[in-house]
Amino acid sequence: MSEEREKELSGLQYLSQERPKAMQHLLAFFRESGKHLDPKTRFLISVVTKVINFSPRGLRQYLPRAQREGASRDELLDAILCAYPAAGLTKVVDAVEVFRELEREAKLGPAAPAQPEPQWVPVLRAGEVPEGEARVVGVGEKQLAVFNAGGEFLATANACVHQGGYLGEGFLDGEVVICPLHGWQFNVRSGACLNRPNQQVKTYEARVREGQVEVLV
Ligand code: FES
Repeated sequence: MSEEREKELSGLQYLSQERPKAMQHLLAFFRESGKHLDPKTRFLISVVTKVINFSPRGLRQYLPRAQREGASRDELLDAILCAYPAAGLTKVVDAVEVFRELEREAKLGPAAPAQPEPQWVPVLRAGEVPEGEARVVGVGEKQLAVFNAGGEFLATANACVHQGGYLGEGFLDGEVVICPLHGWQFNVRSGACLNRPNQQVKTYEARVREGQVEVLV
């Protein structure tokens, strides 16, 4: 762990002891604030912040992630440029060097493959999933878990981000599913992992049309 990160963590621990209530609100804000953003946008924002803090390691992590989520080469470069007012020119130029290194190492492709337009796909009848339960469904090569959370249908990738446990076979408590393998807990609306705040399972929009549950994939 870098010295900077260690300092950050011990600072957070100190604040959590000294101002527990204020920190509870602050951490809840962190958890909530990115929930409604799609993964590409979240990762592009992370790129901007990594330029501002000038963290080459962070850039090496988030540039490829944003690209995997569909960001084009131009969007990645624009995200770096967007940091200019807060970061200044030197950090922007240094970040572009990291970008070019990643391209040379082939860790960034020349362009993200075009993403097919998401489509609503019927996956099962609403009546097949009682409240508080889930079902695993296949859509093309994807396997999804469809949850009935108090009458509302929500969907996530079926594979747990830890070691691939089937979330659709987990225990659902309200909007939280507990992975059957090692018990990590995920909010199935936001995808946030409750006991590993830096982890996230992919979520999909779901709706019911004429008794049929459809997911946007
Ligand atoms: S595989 Fe889900 S918690 Fe380990």
